[in-house]
Amino acid sequence: MGNRKMVGLIGSPIEHSLSPLMHNTMFEEMKEPYYYQAFNVRKDHLKQAVEGMKALGFIGFNVTIPHKVNVMKYLDGISEEAKRIGAVNTVVLEDGKFIGYNTDGKGFVYSLVAEQGKSLMNKRVLIIGAGGAARGIYAALSELNLEIDISNRTIEKAIDLVNNFGLNTKVVTNEAAEEHLFEYDIIINTTSVGMSPHVEEIPLNLDYLGKHTLLCDIVYNPLLTKWLKLGQANGNPILTGVGMFVGQGALAFEKWTGKEPDYETMKNVVTAKLGG
Ligand code: ATR
Repeated sequence: MGNRKMVGLIGSPIEHSLSPLMHNTMFEEMKEPYYYQAFNVRKDHLKQAVEGMKALGFIGFNVTIPHKVNVMKYLDGISEEAKRIGAVNTVVLEDGKFIGYNTDGKGFVYSLVAEQGKSLMNKRVLIIGAGGAARGIYAALSELNLEIDISNRTIEKAIDLVNNFGLNTKVVTNEAAEEHLFEYDIIINTTSVGMSPHVEEIPLNLDYLGKHTLLCDIVYNPLLTKWLKLGQANGNPILTGVGMFVGQGALAFEKWTGKEPDYETMKNVVTAKLGG
């Protein structure tokens, strides 16, 4: 490790995290003198862990489940966006202070642009889900000129989410969304439906899916969820959950180093590790 600058991850469990591999590969490739280490941190050790990272000279770190919300009270400052989302996934040392950001939603948009290469202007988007991941993606997408609908199993949660942001977004039931699926250009699953071990579940019925619609998932375990497989078989373009994972990592990398990493390299490392 020598005198490399330290960054890392706190969460629990972290044993299967692909972030160390993804970041360290990119640091080496770009000859950036950083090292990324994952730490399994218990909930009752969170405060000490953050203080410890400060004491040890970490220049930043990622935060994952179950600390994304609770870490906020131990930081020196929080970006407006992370406040609005209510969670932090990336911390950066700025003038000796740990400042919290949320790169999840922006990371999703980053991957969408990197993969699509096309303008997202005036696209009609459906977000499925109203949890933490949906909030991040909604916050990032709402900065673009898009028409966004949100559906959720528990409709009240979707209404609360939209009201919190005060934007003009239509909330629809999952059933209504299913019947109008062909109207959307982009559909994003932000729920955990389809994640291992429940690999046979799909977030929405795809009977009325149009051929042009881009199907996106934030689940990357398995790499190809059942509904992405169904979409692919139907001839639709897809974006796997690796996109958002790499996107959030790329934006964190940029905040720590000031340099833009190569999205494709990071994606290839992660995809290969996942067996893709
Ligand atoms: P995260 O922070 O990862 O987004 P979360 O806040 O627990 O997780 O949100 C999970 C989302 O997945 C919610 O939108 C949830 O729907 P409810 O609000 O109705 O709970 C959705 N979800 C999880 N399991 C689901 C299932 N089996 N069917 C439909 N929606 C599901």
